[in-house]
Amino acid sequence: MTIDEIKSKLEKTLSKKRFKHSVGVMETAVELALINDVDRDKAAISGLLHDCAREVKGAEAFKACEKYGICIDEISRIQPSLLHGSIGAEIAKEEYGIKDPHILQAIKYHTTGRADMDMLEKIIFIADYIEPGRNFQGVEEARKEAFKNIDRVMLMALDKTISHIIEKKGLIHVDAINARNFILSHAIKCE
Ligand SMILES: [Fe+2]
Ligand SMILES: [Fe+2]
Repeated sequence: MTIDEIKSKLEKTLSKKRFKHSVGVMETAVELALINDVDRDKAAISGLLHDCAREVKGAEAFKACEKYGICIDEISRIQPSLLHGSIGAEIAKEEYGIKDPHILQAIKYHTTGRADMDMLEKIIFIADYIEPGRNFQGVEEARKEAFKNIDRVMLMALDKTISHIIEKKGLIHVDAINARNFILSHAIKCE
């Protein structure tokens, strides 16, 4: 499938708002790919498809996990929206014919992050955070940092997201904690 074909198929499955967000993530991911030596098409496809399962919710999400053999951890059982990355990677494979393991991984971990992310995973995680439709306090600072130091903006994004979850008395997924610990102990520490 070409990128245009993926785009028009995706448009039929998502709400207008989510599709616009996905295109925003695609465009930002391509910009970040160019300065980080990452294949632009891989960035575009991962960005476009990262939320392809975002509208698969509740019982439907559990059913999809059963279909694809995704194991549901304790936290995702309580917060099934956390599953949309894993389900999205399977849908990208099955419905869009994506075979590249890096693209599938970037889709899978775009919500929580994980330890030792590769550059494409970081790009999608950050593009999702700063795409032009995002509007939160500090987004401009994050946008600037994203084009200077991707690890530093990863830490900013993880800190902010984790603090927000704590404020809401929510559950923090262990992959997000591992992502933050890894960045702090490996990337930032060595600067
Ligand atoms: Fe998402
Ligand atoms: Fe997203």
